[in-house]
Amino acid sequence: MKIAIFASGNGSNFQSIAEAINDGQLASEIGFVFCDNSSAFVVERARKLNIPIIVFSPKEFCSKTAYEKEILKHLTENNIQLIVLAGYMRIVGSTLLETFKNRMINIHPSLLPQFPGRYGIKEAFEARVKETGVTIHYVDDGVDTGPIIKQEKVPINDNDTLEMVEAKIHQIEHRLYPEVLDKIISKNKEWLLDGKETSTNQCFR
Ligand code: GAR
Repeated sequence: MKIAIFASGNGSNFQSIAEAINDGQLASEIGFVFCDNSSAFVVERARKLNIPIIVFSPKEFCSKTAYEKEILKHLTENNIQLIVLAGYMRIVGSTLLETFKNRMINIHPSLLPQFPGRYGIKEAFEARVKETGVTIHYVDDGVDTGPIIKQEKVPINDNDTLEMVEAKIHQIEHRLYPEVLDKIISKNKEWLLDGKETSTNQCFR
């Protein structure tokens, strides 16, 4: 299955997916990485890994629709079947959602619906909750909403610093995202919260 990865920043999740593909753990091909920020580190990572990278910002367009239509053009030209958001810090609009409904997934560093948004790890840490986690979900028009595919909990211990919690979460993300992608790609079935497959196949077609 040919995927496109959307990222806005560091790109460590993109790299873990690319490495899983290179190691033969994930039967997929990254058609391209799309980045909305030319100074993001993910651009350098993609170039080093020889993976095509497309970079432009919504500021270059007169509307969100025009911006997303340009992205859609690249998705269509490259026969992309699944969009994988990996730190893409924008709300996806109707232009992309209509075409990629149930074919777009996201990873978020909290146990959604708790702590959505840009600062999921920090907000959980500051709220002094005893556990947070990682969520992978289908994308809808909300901020980190949409049907949950898989969650994994991460304990926050009394002595943990924010940096320690961030490190624990990223470590899980880098394992979990390729694992879940593998389930979706190889089984082509809905992968539920508790890890059980269903035959309803309603989320991913
Ligand atoms: C990841 O922790 C991801 O879960 C988060 O951005 C980070 C990107 O890291 N996504 C969100 O917060 C979405 N609301 P990366 O650029 O190193 O992959």
